[in-house]
Amino acid sequence: MSSPVYRVLPDAKKRALIDDEKYLKWYKQSVSDPEKFWARHGKRIDWFKPYTKVKNTSFTGKVSIKWFEDGVTNVAYNCIDRHLKKRGNQVAIIWEGDNPYDDKKITYNELYDKVCRLANVLKANGVKKGDRVTIYMPMIPEAAYAMLACARIGAIHSVVFGGFSPDALAGRIIDCESEFVITADEGLRGGRKIPLKHNTDLAIEIAERQEVRVKKVLVVQRTAGKIEWFEDRDIWYHEAIAKAKPDCSPAKMKAEDPLFILYTSGSTGKPKGVLHTTGGYLVYASMTHEYVFDYHDGDIYWCTADVGWVTGHSYIVYGPLANGATTLMFEGVPNYPTPSRFWEVVDKHQVNIFYTAPTAIRALMGAGDEYVKASSRKSLRTLGSVGEPINPEAWEWYYNVVGEKKCPIVDTWWQTETGGIMITPLPGATNLKPGSATRPFFGIQPQLVDADGDVLEGTADGNLCIIDSWPGQMRTVYGDHDRFVQTYFSTYKGKYFTGDGCRRDADGYYWITGRVDDVINVSGHRMGTAEVESALVSHDAVSEAAVVGYPHDLKGQGIYCYVTLMAGVEGTDELRKELVKHVRTEIGPIASPDKIQFAPGLPKTRSGKIMRRILRKIAEDDFGALGDTSTLADPTVVDDLIDNRQNKK
Ligand code: WTA
Repeated sequence: MSSPVYRVLPDAKKRALIDDEKYLKWYKQSVSDPEKFWARHGKRIDWFKPYTKVKNTSFTGKVSIKWFEDGVTNVAYNCIDRHLKKRGNQVAIIWEGDNPYDDKKITYNELYDKVCRLANVLKANGVKKGDRVTIYMPMIPEAAYAMLACARIGAIHSVVFGGFSPDALAGRIIDCESEFVITADEGLRGGRKIPLKHNTDLAIEIAERQEVRVKKVLVVQRTAGKIEWFEDRDIWYHEAIAKAKPDCSPAKMKAEDPLFILYTSGSTGKPKGVLHTTGGYLVYASMTHEYVFDYHDGDIYWCTADVGWVTGHSYIVYGPLANGATTLMFEGVPNYPTPSRFWEVVDKHQVNIFYTAPTAIRALMGAGDEYVKASSRKSLRTLGSVGEPINPEAWEWYYNVVGEKKCPIVDTWWQTETGGIMITPLPGATNLKPGSATRPFFGIQPQLVDADGDVLEGTADGNLCIIDSWPGQMRTVYGDHDRFVQTYFSTYKGKYFTGDGCRRDADGYYWITGRVDDVINVSGHRMGTAEVESALVSHDAVSEAAVVGYPHDLKGQGIYCYVTLMAGVEGTDELRKELVKHVRTEIGPIASPDKIQFAPGLPKTRSGKIMRRILRKIAEDDFGALGDTSTLADPTVVDDLIDNRQNKK
């Protein structure tokens, strides 16, 4: 199987910050002497006190990761203050509303004013360095102000995606014992309202039952919809910042002081609070933003992610702003009012760099080329993809139709845990192969291992590990360092295990094949099958559930649930609907089951372990290849599962 190769475009090479020669040279330096390489590149951000120590990391024993540890800096200072002299009047954030007639531009001077005022509001309400602030917001500039205001005073933000349910929000508030929440009255997406304040009220009630008391809720007015108001707890954002002072000096933060927590799904248990710190994270986010997108001063840059995910953190807010870029924030969805929306926004704001997810690309491809062709897209220069493997058909469409063969595609592989992009082409350096994330970024040392942990050399297919630290790496699971060590460093001793499967071809290119653990990737959103299972079994009618992913044309993976009902309960279509609704309430719409199969029994080994391999195969309608079922406690359950499968082709 050989893949077509798209050579580096001459124009891309001409303007590029990094060509192939430089890539190879820098890469070699970065892995042969990381200390020296990062000592040099750590200087890309401003330090109040320069670091003298660069790298102090260990993947064995207790696992400890420290970068630039004696340096002192502030992330908000780097994203705002240091740009003011040169670019105070340059636009920092272009905001494009859900409604195509709604937009605004915020300059760096204005950003300074907003963030300082908000920082003062936080302080006045008792938020201190190290306190956790939960941000549950729509895609409006105030979400970025809130993150930066926390960074400015050294509070740790935990952004929770606005599509999560009150229960999911509560779980995250409880886990990090957050006493301050920033939200909006309602969100607006695709013309539909999302009751963020109402959800927050419910979440706070749930948290209170677990003795975590949220003291203050700051509410941004977005839609002016009707909400409940709690006088002693709720604060209007617009009233508070109008009264606040417009200056707030940035807190002196040690490089390893926490910057944010971001909850993400894993194989087991509840979502983990991935903790990122200050110095290394910002160095890595800004450096990858510059080189991966070949960002030049003056470029208009748009990442379509939501700030609720890591992509929004690193590549809407921190990376671009640290680089003094103009970053576009989009409140809406790709197909509202029509599937031309992305391209209309590109033309309207003359976007040069565009970064989106395969799921959006596939959906827009399905809508038809005419929606793309109705726009000019002349300003586009670089296209990016993130979040899940991009299938070659979608890649070709993105390249040929959207980019008209003039824009390199950077297929960027990374994770919440990695803080920034890890494996990726560089626009002026890397020949492209559709579907491959190509080669490692500077400082990243991928390794493929087999199930026994034996290292695979050359052309191989295995489990993807990274064998040495990089500055953007997560430092711990908030409040549970053992879980950090257990999750990432125990499967293959001394290596960071990504949870992804990966192939390396004869050119040394990496092809991510998807998760090898019990995490599924639905429309680019990470979901733990265990979370969906626990949501299902919390319903009175359900006695047991097993959830697996299956290939889905638009979403990448769909959610397939095997549900065993309580004795006497009948598996009707109505109950299916109710269970879907139940999961949406427990987690959020992104976790909606696609298929529910009622199963009188699940395939278990004699020791009671569910054999998911079999369930996956049946969900894929590929039961000819079930493999050995003789170890099952009751092999006959398999026939029933096959007969009643919900995904017959
Ligand atoms: C998957 C998103 C293939 C992968 C930044 C990873 C990808 C998980 C790619 C992390 C890509 C992300 N090609 N797979 N370019 N990018 N993934 O934490 O399975 O939301 O482990 O971070 O998404 O998802 P997360």
